[in-house]
This record gives sequence, C-alpha cells and structure tokens, in this order.
Amino acid sequence: MASKLFPSRRGLVIGAAQAAAALALWRPSIAAETLPKIIVTRDPNCGCCGNWVAHVRAAGLTVEVVEVPDVAPLKARLGVPDALASCHTAEIGGYVVEGHVPAAAIKRLLIERPRVTGLAVAGMPVGSPGMEVPGQVPQDYEVIAFSAGAQQVFARYRGLQQV
Ligand code: CU
Ligand code: CU
Repeated sequence: MASKLFPSRRGLVIGAAQAAAALALWRPSIAAETLPKIIVTRDPNCGCCGNWVAHVRAAGLTVEVVEVPDVAPLKARLGVPDALASCHTAEIGGYVVEGHVPAAAIKRLLIERPRVTGLAVAGMPVGSPGMEVPGQVPQDYEVIAFSAGAQQVFARYRGLQQV
C-alpha cells in the first residue's frame, strides 16, 4: 500500500527536473534572446526616463528608445488610463508598460501573459527604478495591471523589493 502513498522514484526525478526548469525561468538573469525588444518612448528632457532605461537594460532587456516632445498622445492611443499615467511609455511583446515598472514585473508579465493591456506604476514613486533619490526613503508602490475599464494590483514593491 505504501507505493500508493508515495510517488515513484521516477516521478520524483521528473518532479525535480520540472522544478529546476521552473526556477530557471524565474531567474532574473533570464536570457536576453528569449525576451522581446522593449520600445521606450520618452521626452529627452526627462532624466528619470533615462535612469529607467538603464534599469531595464541592466536587467537584460534590449531597449530601443524613441524620443518625442510629448508622450501623452501615445499614452492615449495605447489605452493608458489618465490616472495611471507617468513619464515614459514602453511597448513589449504586445503589452504596454507605463512608468517606472520594475524589470522583474515585466518579465513576470511576459511569462504569465495575462489578458491585459499592460502594467503601470502611476506617477513617480520615490525609490521605484529610475526614481531613486539619495537620502529619501523608498515608498511603497503598486504595479497595476490594466485593461479598458479594469485595473488590478499585479504586485507591490518598495524600491526593487517586492512587498
Ligand atoms: Cu519618471
Ligand atoms: Cu522621466
């Protein structure tokens, strides 16, 4: 009867392999070639956008930067709700990424592929990637998954730390 209660050795080996594969997927150093390019549209006079580009680049994403004097028309066209607007607007793998979203959240989005328009961090929370201010305590902020008429919390962060 014991054989019914415990998985076979073969089952255990397969389980371990699957667990290892899942872990590899979740590693932040997910290979750049498996990730689609991210196109970031930004105002060249806004410094925090450049800092955020450096953050996603450091996380292994291939970045194309488009500079425009006003990002608002693109936000409207891509369906970013006014209340979730920030500075730069990015597009990756069919999703919209608005504002200072951590690269880890973007990678999770691309793995889970939920049916949403995209992710947003509204405004400019201090301590979010690209918005680090020396001497200022990072504030808690939410990464919101949004669609037309629907928004829900995708993740909560303090700095680069999920909370
Ligand atoms: Cu910004
Ligand atoms: Cu900016």
